[in-house]
Amino acid sequence: MKSIDYYLGREQTYLKHFFLERYLERVAYNIGSFATDFVYVDGFSGPWQSQNEDFHDTSFIIAINRLRLVRSGLAKIGRNLKVRCLFIEKDPAAFSALEGAVSKISDIQCKSLRGYFEESIPNIKEFIGRSFSLVFIDPTGWTGFGLRQIEPILRHAPGEVIVNFMFDYINRFLENPSDDLAPSFNDLFGGPGWESALSATSRREEVIVALYCERMRSIGKFDYVTSTRILNPTKDRTYFYLIYGTRHPKGLIEFRKIEESALVEQEKVRLNAKEANRLERTSQPLLSGLEQLSSPPTPLDIERSLRLAEAEGRLREKLERHSRISYDSALTLMLQTPLVFQSDVKATLQRWQSEITLRLKG
Ligand SMILES: C[S@@+](CC[C@H](N)C(=O)[O-])C[C@H]1O[C@@H](n2cnc3c(N)ncnc32)[C@H](O)[C@@H]1O
Repeated sequence: MKSIDYYLGREQTYLKHFFLERYLERVAYNIGSFATDFVYVDGFSGPWQSQNEDFHDTSFIIAINRLRLVRSGLAKIGRNLKVRCLFIEKDPAAFSALEGAVSKISDIQCKSLRGYFEESIPNIKEFIGRSFSLVFIDPTGWTGFGLRQIEPILRHAPGEVIVNFMFDYINRFLENPSDDLAPSFNDLFGGPGWESALSATSRREEVIVALYCERMRSIGKFDYVTSTRILNPTKDRTYFYLIYGTRHPKGLIEFRKIEESALVEQEKVRLNAKEANRLERTSQPLLSGLEQLSSPPTPLDIERSLRLAEAEGRLREKLERHSRISYDSALTLMLQTPLVFQSDVKATLQRWQSEITLRLKG
C-alpha cells in the first residue's frame, strides 16, 4: 500500500488499509498452509477518493497485491494456493474504473460485478462455492448491508467477515432517530430492539457496538465477533469500528495481533495529523516529538486497563461457573475484548495461577 503521504486528510482510510492489508496476509497465509482455495470479496469496492492513478491507495488493489505476495510466499514452501477475488460496486463511474483496473490483472482470478451488495448475494455465494472466504464490507453509510439481508454471506463457513461500522456517521443519526429512519436501522441491526442501546446512560458507544457485534454473531452463527476502533485523526473521538466475525480462535489471535501493531501506527499518524492541523491554525512552529507525547498513563493506557479489567471480569464469571477451564477457552474469552492481547492474557493467568486450575486441552 501507499505511504501515509497519499492519505493526507483521510488518515482513517490509511489505518483501515493498514489493518486490512495485514489481516488479509495472515488469514490467506494460514488458510493456504492447509487448503487449496482462498476467496476474497470486497462488497463495496470503489475506487473511492483515490489519489493514485493506479489505485494503489484503494482496498481492491491493496488486496490483490498482498494476495500475490502470500501466494508466492506459500509457493516457496511447496503450497499452491488458488486465489480468487470478487469486487462489487454499484456506482457506474466507479465501476468502470474498477473494471478497467481489474481487467489488467491476469495472474489472479478477479471478477468485478456492477450492482448493489445485498442484491448480489446469490452471485457472491456462487462465486465463493465451498472455499474459505474473507468478505470485506466497507460502506459509505449504514445502508446496503442489513444483517438479515446478508445472512447467507455471514453464515458461509468456512469464512470470515469484516464490516466497517461507521460509528461517527451512524451516531449522528442515532442521536435523533426519526420515524422514517427506523426501518433502515432495523436493517442495520437485523431487527428492532436497538432503541434501548441508544438510551444507555453510561458507555453508550460501547453498548451500541456490542449490540451490533452480538446481532452479527447470532445471525451469522459466528463463534466470535469482536471489533477494533479507528479514531478520528485530529479529534479525540471514534471514526469507525472494524467489526470482525470468525469461527476460529486462530483468527481472533491474528486480529488482536494486527490491532496491536495498528495501535502503534494510529498513535503516530494521529500525532502528526494533529500537529499539522495545529500548525495550519496557529502557524506556530512544530513541537518536537518528545514534547508532544503525553506522559503516562496516556488515554490509551487508561482504556487498555479498563478493557483488561472487563476481560478479567468475564473470565472470573466463567471461573465461578466452571471449576476447570482450558487455556484455549480462557484465551479466546479474553481476546474477544478489544485492546486485550495475548501477552495480557498470559500475565493474568500467571497472576491467578494459584486460584485457578487450567486444563491445557479440551
Ligand atoms: C467507502 S467506499 C469503498 C472504499 C474502498 N473499500 C477502499 O477502502 O478503497 C464505498 C463504495 O461502495 C459503493 N457503494 C455504496 N453503496 C453500495 C451498495 N449498496 N452496493 C455496492 N456498492 C456500494 C460506493 O459507490 C463506494 O464506491
